[in-house]
Parts: sequence; structure tokens; C-alpha cells
Amino acid sequence: MGITEITVAAYIVASLLFILSLAGLSKHETARSGLTYGMAGMAIALVATIALAVDNIFDLPDYDMHWLPVVLIAGAIVVGAAIGLWRARIVEMTGMPELIALLHSFVGLAAVLIGWNGAIEGAHFDGVAPDDHGAIIGIHAAEVAIGIFIGAVTLTGSIVANLKLSARMKSAPLMLPGKNLINVGSLVAFIVLTGVYVARDVKDDTTGYVLLAVITALALFLGWHLVASIGGGDMPVVISMLNSYSGWAAAASGFLLGNDLLIVTGALVGSSGAYLSYIMCKAMNRSFISVIAGGFGIEAGPADDTDYGEHREIQADGAAELLGDAKSVIITPGYGMAVAQAQYPVADLTAKLRAKGVDVRFGIHPVAGRLPGHMNVLLAEAKLPYDIVMELDEINDDFPETDVVLVIGANDTVNPAAAEDPSSPIAGMPVLEVWNAKDVIVFKRSMAAGYAGVQNPLFFRDNTQMLFGDAKDRVEDIISHL
Ligand code: TAP
Repeated sequence: MGITEITVAAYIVASLLFILSLAGLSKHETARSGLTYGMAGMAIALVATIALAVDNIFDLPDYDMHWLPVVLIAGAIVVGAAIGLWRARIVEMTGMPELIALLHSFVGLAAVLIGWNGAIEGAHFDGVAPDDHGAIIGIHAAEVAIGIFIGAVTLTGSIVANLKLSARMKSAPLMLPGKNLINVGSLVAFIVLTGVYVARDVKDDTTGYVLLAVITALALFLGWHLVASIGGGDMPVVISMLNSYSGWAAAASGFLLGNDLLIVTGALVGSSGAYLSYIMCKAMNRSFISVIAGGFGIEAGPADDTDYGEHREIQADGAAELLGDAKSVIITPGYGMAVAQAQYPVADLTAKLRAKGVDVRFGIHPVAGRLPGHMNVLLAEAKLPYDIVMELDEINDDFPETDVVLVIGANDTVNPAAAEDPSSPIAGMPVLEVWNAKDVIVFKRSMAAGYAGVQNPLFFRDNTQMLFGDAKDRVEDIISHL
């Protein structure tokens, strides 16, 4: 068995590991093993691909600089791995979306470079009957143009997403006149240009390169425009959408390189990213199609001047007293818990209450925080038992029988206006119906609005009390009073 056959076998094993990884990542109980499968699959894929590449290099006839490409490959691995390790070690949980956006831009850039490389190298005819050469040239040209297009859209789109998320670019949506026309026009122009590129005279290199350069520039512009048109508030959906695009870009590169594993992996990333975008849109009551078209952004609606009345305040000792008397408690964490890094004292508080016989559970909204699974990761980090962490659907009917709800740094995800006020900008978004509980304590630093920028009538309800201050400090205060 030669290196090629071993590589094919390794690719099949790696593909299976990637599928197991995705399956594992869909539940928090199995997420760790899912990651292990993913890492094992990637290690096998890398070793097999590099081994095949090195073998091919040494097979090259009339070439006596074999060491050069090998050194280049090794250098690229060392530099890439060093940067990856460094960034992953220093990134804060709240900075994860922008890091992911940056990583997607690398996939896009790689797809553009592979596309151009494919164009320069031309089609290969190993084992192809001469009659079929025309068809192969056409398919190859289409692969080149599509790969470059998806890659370039992903590249600039991800760079804009990174800049917006890291606040180095204004997060307000760019509103160019006729923006939908610009998007559709760019897409139509791409299809026409690709048709011309595929049908061109292959001997005419200059025309081919000019066409490809125009396609590249058009796609770079479209990626920038698509993401710049989306408001910062909706950026997490865009991240998962770009994740999907980067998958399709990788799959396109797989076709060009004749690498089956890249096609499989790209398709897995592409389809799972698209499905995740769909789930997030549903959880935020957004239309999936309008996200793909880059057509939405939270437009500033009329200022909310409703008089909700006075809010009531509670201090840590009062909260400790309420909790001491409670039989059932639900904690609904949000972005503020991540900012305050309050998950550790929250875990201590949970342990203390459970030791007193209180039934404590967590209610997790699908878009609580700033990235999918944000809260689950934080709670797992603090070693909270999985079986008390519930999804929105699992827990929403239990609030009426709950004594105390602790809303820790959450806002939009517990806003009754979403369920009760059809004119609210977040109307229709499924929310945790915490207001149905006997007592609600809201931990936040001020009366400021949440991510969507809308006021929250929950804060003014008769059964709600505000506990102001940093969530971590306040939870620690409660523990000391218990
Ligand atoms: P938000 O609505 O953003 O509210 C977070 C609250 O935490 C704020 O009201 C803030 O109030 C408070 N806070 C911030 N720092 C704090 C600290 N150190 N201590 C105590 N409180 C603190 O969060 P959420 O309920 O988690 O909702 C998430 C939002 O993000 C939704 O609008 C959702 O649509 C959007 N979003 C999320 C995702 C994903 S995938 N998670 C995707 C797209 C969009 P103060 O400033 O007064 O403290």
C-alpha cells in the first residue's frame, strides 16, 4: 500500500471523526469528547496531507531542490501553530467572536490564493480522454471563479466583522442607497463574469486573468458591503453565517485541489454554520433570508418614552433572606454575568443553596450572551452540574411555581415586551418568562437598556427588585449574608 492509499484511509477516518465531533458538540455533556474527536481528526488530516505533499515533492522529476518546499511547509506550520496558540491563550471569553471572525478571514484568504493558484496552474488531464479536455477545462474554470468569489466575500466580510466587534469600526449599519440592488447586482455580475470566464478562449491568458481580477475585486467589495450593512447588534448571527461561508470556501478549494477531505470538511462547516445561523435567527425572531441578504440592522426606532413607574431596590442581605426562605430558585444568566466573570461565585451560591435543600436550576436563553453557547461554556467552566442547566423550552413553564428568580446580567432575554408588546423592536423574540415567578431579583449596574437598546418593563414590575452593582461583587455579598 502506497502513501496515496494510506492518505485516502486517513481522510475517511478524519471525516468520521469530524462528524462525531459535531455530534458531540451538540450537547454539553459530550462537548469535551466532541472537541477531542475534532482535534484527533485534524491531527490525522494534517499529518496525512503533509505526508502526501512531501511524497509528491520527492517524486518530482528534474527537481533537485526538494528541501525548499519541505522547509516552507514546516515553517508555515510552526508560524501558524505559534500564532494560534498565542491568540487562543490570551483571548477572553468575551473576545471570542472577533477572534473567530479573524480566523474565518484566513480561510477566505486561503481560498482566494488557492483559486488564483488553480488559474495559473491550469487544468490537469491525467487519465482524461482527449475528447473530454474541453469539459474539464470548463469545470476547472468554474471551480476557480466560484472558489475565489466565496473566499473573497468571506475575507472582507470577516475583516469587517472583526473590526466592528472590536469597536475599531462603527457598529451602526451602513445604509448605502439601493443596498439590496447593489448586493443582487454584484451577484448577477459575478454569474455573468463567471460564464464569460468559463467560455473564454483558454489560450488567451490575459483575458482570463483580467476577468478573474474583476471577479476578485467584486467579491471583496460584496463581502465588505454585506457585513458593513449589518448593525453591531446582529453581528453574532453574521459570525455564524461567515463561518458557513468559510466552510463553502474550503469546499470549493477542496474541488480545486482534488482533496476529498477538504470537500467533506468544508461541507460540514458550511451546512452546520448555516443551520446555526438559522437557529440564532429563530431565537432572535429575525428572518434568515434578510440576514443572508445583509438586509437588516437594528434601525433606531422612536425613543421609548413610556412611563413604567418606579423600580424597587433590594440589597444583598434582603436577597439572601429571600433566597433563604425559597424552596425553588431559577437563575437566568446573561451577558453581564460574562462581563463580571460572576460564574464562579454563582456556582458557590448554587452549591450553598442546594446544600440547604433549595431546588436551584438555570434557565439558558439560546442567545444569552454574545455567542452561541456562551452561558453554557461559562457555567461548565465553573463546574456546575449539567443536569440543572435547562434550555428555554424546558424551563419556561416552570416560572409560575418558582419562588425566586435571579436575573444575573441578562436583559433582552428576559424582556416581557417581547411577548406582550407587538410594537417593541424585539416583539416575537422568545424570552424567559421570569416575571411569572413569585419574586424576581435583577442584578445589573444601572437602569441602562440591554443589547437591543430597548427598555425592559420587567424592572418596574411589582414582584421585581433591582440589585445594583457588579454581578460578581453582589453574588459574593449574598453568599456572605447567607
Ligand atoms: P443584554 O441584553 O446585552 O444585557 C446584559 C445586561 O448585563 C445589561 O443590561 C447590563 O446592564 C448588564 N451588565 C453588564 N455588565 C455587568 C456587570 N459587570 N455586572 C452586572 N450586570 C452587568 O444580555 P442578554 O440578556 O444576555 O441578551 C443578549 C443580547 O445579545 C440579546 O439582545 C441577543 O439578541 C444579542 N445577541 C446574542 C447572540 C448570541 S448567539 N448569544 C447573538 C446575537 C445577538 P448594566 O449596564 O446596567 O450593568
